[in-house]
Amino acid sequence: MIEVMVAARREQAEGILGLELTSVDGDPLPAFSAGSHIDLHLPGGLVRQYSLCNHPEERHRYEIAVLKEADGRGGSQAVHQLTEGVRLQISEPRNLFPLMHEARRSLLFAGGIGITPILCMAQRLAHTGADFELHYCARSATRAAFVDRLRQSPFAERVHFHFDDEGARLELASMLASADSGTHLYVCGPGGFMEHVLGSARAAGWAEENLHREYFAAAPVAEQVDRPFVVQLASTGQVIEVPADRTVAQMLEVAGVFVPLSCEQGICGTCLTRVLEGEPEHRDLFLTDEERAANDQFTPCCSRARSTRLVLDL
Ligand code: FES
Repeated sequence: MIEVMVAARREQAEGILGLELTSVDGDPLPAFSAGSHIDLHLPGGLVRQYSLCNHPEERHRYEIAVLKEADGRGGSQAVHQLTEGVRLQISEPRNLFPLMHEARRSLLFAGGIGITPILCMAQRLAHTGADFELHYCARSATRAAFVDRLRQSPFAERVHFHFDDEGARLELASMLASADSGTHLYVCGPGGFMEHVLGSARAAGWAEENLHREYFAAAPVAEQVDRPFVVQLASTGQVIEVPADRTVAQMLEVAGVFVPLSCEQGICGTCLTRVLEGEPEHRDLFLTDEERAANDQFTPCCSRARSTRLVLDL
């Protein structure tokens, strides 16, 4: 954990607050790579993940931007109440959305607040002289963060804005028509936007290993009937019941078994646990389809079981 201070807060767009975090003692912050996020420990005990959006060469600050979500789980509202000078605990940066350095070309797609890791990536790619294009979609310029920064950046000619109210649609079919193994695609934004971009790329024949995505919130799960099941710890044989209305992670905690948690909604992969027997019912957004099909790991913060018992490598 690192203690930081809110050094500056500014409105980046309608409903989007930008925060600059610095170390309290003036020491450089741990280095980070483009696509990294931090866990922010908020007053009231909430822990939320936010992508770092500043230039990854910077060590004197971390910059995040947070959209206020009226019907969210409370994290964004707590962030919007932070004032300058407040001290907070954060984790070291972690990267689950890294740039592929072997890429000859990169296509970056941001939807709304999904610009945060994408902005960081664009700055890194521009810094290294890499070939890239950034497509930024939002309802309007007033609801899009960092528009001025992008327009004034040295890579402004690589940035294409697609604002709904200006009728500037994203023409994915032509953009993605020529899939080649040297081009990598990165997308971050609301679930529907990401599915649209990824689905269009797949339809155009893009290989899965060239598609990279980061979700910033789990899509609401359709109402479904959860069944109870048991998990068994391989190390001790202990059997733990998981009732229909509790998660595996919650029941492991009750039993005194430590599993690291962060997002608690299947996005970050922090809680990933090996499954030795049984069939998980995957509800995360972290694993690839291939990894899910292997059924040898799952995310106990949200995933459940198809079988009546899962034996966990714990
Ligand atoms: Fe993030 Fe489980 S805690 S995936």
